Amino acid sequence: MKPVKVGICGLGTVGGGTFNVLERNAAEIARRAGRGIEVAQIAARHENPRCNTGDTPITADIFEVANNPEIDIVVELIGGYTLARELVLKAIENGKHVVTANKALIAVHGNEIFAKAREKGVIVAFEASVAGGIPVIKAIREGLAGNQINWLAGIINGTGNFILTEMREKGRAFEDVLKQAQELGYAEADPTFDVEGIDAAHKLTILASIAFGVPLQFDKAYTEGISRLTTADVNYAEALGYRIKHLGVARSTASGIELRVHPTLIPADRLIANVNGVMNAVMVNGDAVGSTLYYGAGAGMEPTASAVVADLVDVARALTTDPNNRVPHLAFQPDSLSAHPILPIGACESAYYLRIQAKDHPGVLAQVATILSERGINIESIMQKEAEVHDGLVPVILVTHRVVEQRIDDAIAALESLSDVVGSVVRIRVEQLN
Ligand code: HSE
Repeated sequence: MKPVKVGICGLGTVGGGTFNVLERNAAEIARRAGRGIEVAQIAARHENPRCNTGDTPITADIFEVANNPEIDIVVELIGGYTLARELVLKAIENGKHVVTANKALIAVHGNEIFAKAREKGVIVAFEASVAGGIPVIKAIREGLAGNQINWLAGIINGTGNFILTEMREKGRAFEDVLKQAQELGYAEADPTFDVEGIDAAHKLTILASIAFGVPLQFDKAYTEGISRLTTADVNYAEALGYRIKHLGVARSTASGIELRVHPTLIPADRLIANVNGVMNAVMVNGDAVGSTLYYGAGAGMEPTASAVVADLVDVARALTTDPNNRVPHLAFQPDSLSAHPILPIGACESAYYLRIQAKDHPGVLAQVATILSERGINIESIMQKEAEVHDGLVPVILVTHRVVEQRIDDAIAALESLSDVVGSVVRIRVEQLN
């Protein structure tokens, strides 16, 4: 059978990796796809020194690829929202299938893109957009199709996890580790997307849609980054038996869907608490299967290329199939998406770690306990670090039971208004994941 012709737009870390994997594993890929997958054209502004493109035609104009009649599948690896959207819509308009690793594009413009793709009967595949090389989209969309998904929680930003791991294990400075993550090609073009949780929120938005069958709603995701985490809280969390991870959590409740990214205390003995470096992991809990865990490299040249190439194989196999009988983009039939709302963060439920800087007086703990109990907030554990009294202030650390966030907000406001409490109360959410 004639080989499938692919046009790669973007020859950076992922584009270079995709070209290399397609070349190196060409025979094995053809055995799987039933035909060869050949790169017919590349659009790139620069050469990639880690990728020898030989005599493959290269253009600086991505739209030349989208308009090239020879090409069956456009691989969008340029990133960003604007130009990538134009490129993908142009490729779809021209009847081409699309493979993309662009989580920002899918999270923000996915509803529009999938609608256009349906009109044209083409596939838009995006496995590489979430958790690098881990086939978690396929797992949820196909492998767990018999389940009602209850919740999912994941470490879905490799850069952030790399930074937290290096800071905790080696005491390295935040900026220093971030610079290394950029050199290794893990970080986004704008690394605040990594450290402020925006990248993770893009990925969580995608996972939540395919898990719960709701349209993509990135604008409703709650996002909190890791840049304000202190070594003190990392250490107190350890002393309480927890580890801090930057987690994306999506949970289906009777009143709506929680969609939130934030630093999270996880019991240190959970497998996911021990996912370190650039590795990602996603836990998915379904009513039939129980809890499942997917683990692997979340960023990097060939791990991400692995997912791009798997999508290319999927598309190659589906080229001759009836467009109406393909796996739906968001796992559920488009006319069956639900209007279950995304909950504001104040309506989400979690347990909380609170750190209070209190004056070292008798009766302070009693005041703290009263404020919490008046709001129906149960304390799971409390720790007062007498050995760490500075300037007459003692850190009081406590972990609550699960409660609606609005109640913790009220309690924090009341705690901060006490004359015996100095400065802001530190609040980090806690998830047991059991
Ligand atoms: N910047 C992203 C990360 C790349 O660090 O996870 C993979 O999506």
